[in-house]
Amino acid sequence: MAHWNGPFGDGTHLARVAPDVVLQQKYPFTLPPLGYANTAVVPAADASTLAAHHDKLHAAHVTALNAAMEKFPALQEYSLGQLLMGLRRWPAEARPLIREHGSAHASHALYWKLIAPGAPTAATPSGRLGGMLTREFETLEKCLAELKATALGIEGNGWAWMVKTATNRLALRVMTNEDSPLIEAELPILGIDMWEHAYSRLYQTKREAYVDAVLSRINWDVAGAQVE
Ligand SMILES: [Fe+2]
Repeated sequence: MAHWNGPFGDGTHLARVAPDVVLQQKYPFTLPPLGYANTAVVPAADASTLAAHHDKLHAAHVTALNAAMEKFPALQEYSLGQLLMGLRRWPAEARPLIREHGSAHASHALYWKLIAPGAPTAATPSGRLGGMLTREFETLEKCLAELKATALGIEGNGWAWMVKTATNRLALRVMTNEDSPLIEAELPILGIDMWEHAYSRLYQTKREAYVDAVLSRINWDVAGAQVE
């Protein structure tokens, strides 16, 4: 995939988004199927949570994003990744719609894959991500502990993210509401949805149990593909 330069500045560190096919979608955007049975990712989510979160809520963000694009035909030529990375360049009236619905579409599409059942190789990070993780956190256990603390520190609605920064380092971020790290020119690698709708059906207010469940299910092949 070509580097996203030109109107998007030097996007060299974001050039490798090819594995994240949703970021290449253009209007009209579509909801990717989960690709697994609705009972396959317990305890991170159960059938009822997936029905509400994927089939209804994520779908509603896709519908709303398409409705926004219908109002701004000049933006329809851009991919989802470009729309998010170029957020500051779009008309002021389009920005909040892309920010909310575009972010939610991109982030949820990755999240469903991150908790997807994986091959045995997906149990721990390897390859480039494995090396980056060791450099930044020393061990997977330390990384997961910091990520968990980041997630539990979120007040209100938001996501905890592991990102690749502009200097090709790993970092942990709190993004409020649905904001994608892409709007800050950082590459999403691993995100934990800390909106109440992500955990309340299964865990009520027990957010720590939810975070533990998600972290126990991370498909590291998917996370690793974000930086390969
Ligand atoms: Fe969500």
